[in-house]
Amino acid sequence: MRHVKLGVNIDHVATLRQARGEKNPDTVEAARVVYGSGGDMVVMHLRQDRRHIQDSDLERVRHEVKGLIHLEMAATAEMEKVALKYKPDSVCLVPEGPRELTTQGGMKLDGRKPELEKIIKNLSGAGIEVSVFADPEPGAIRAAHNMGADAIELCTSKYSEAWGKKLQAKELEKLQLAGFLVKELDMELHAGHGLDYYNVAPVARIEGMDCLNIGFSIISRAVFVGLKTAVGEMKRLIQ
Ligand code: PXP
Repeated sequence: MRHVKLGVNIDHVATLRQARGEKNPDTVEAARVVYGSGGDMVVMHLRQDRRHIQDSDLERVRHEVKGLIHLEMAATAEMEKVALKYKPDSVCLVPEGPRELTTQGGMKLDGRKPELEKIIKNLSGAGIEVSVFADPEPGAIRAAHNMGADAIELCTSKYSEAWGKKLQAKELEKLQLAGFLVKELDMELHAGHGLDYYNVAPVARIEGMDCLNIGFSIISRAVFVGLKTAVGEMKRLIQ
């Protein structure tokens, strides 16, 4: 059986906690449940505005739970420092806008080669695997490869938005073609954003898919069925 890894993004466990400024729901408890119910890694997006995940979440999950941590972060000097301090197992560089509700598309890489190359080199030097969140476009994938990234996380937002519409097949094909290129460049293939229990299977079956990072749909379902069941169900769907 092919093993597609599942990264479970727990940002919105922290969103709920921040709503009351209290200790619960606790991200450490969430991480324990994720690892115990089929999640291969815990994903956290430490935003520059710290709207959900805090530095202390990263620190506590790192020290209090055994398991892989995948950090999503903006490609800035501040965030590079944070990553080098807490040493997640892997990092995904993402674009970040101050007022966006969630990440809007892949990284714009044009004109940022020296800066990004340096961040990727420093993170890699510390033993952290680096992926770049990219739209399923050959230019972006090649650029990330040339900057030294180990992996590409294909942005699935457009595919997710097209679900049930005519455009869906075209968006899936774009992801498949982009996946071929990523593998041709001998990189790890990841995907994520907007994936849910209905639209995930075709993406999980893309040739060479190594890992899917999923948050909102799992945490939303967890409200009704519990996190253990929500993670287990998603894990079964992607195998
Ligand atoms: N991948 C990346 C790079 C992201 O920024 C996010 C959102 O934090 C996700 C995956 C997960 O998206 P969703 O919460 O829609 O599943």
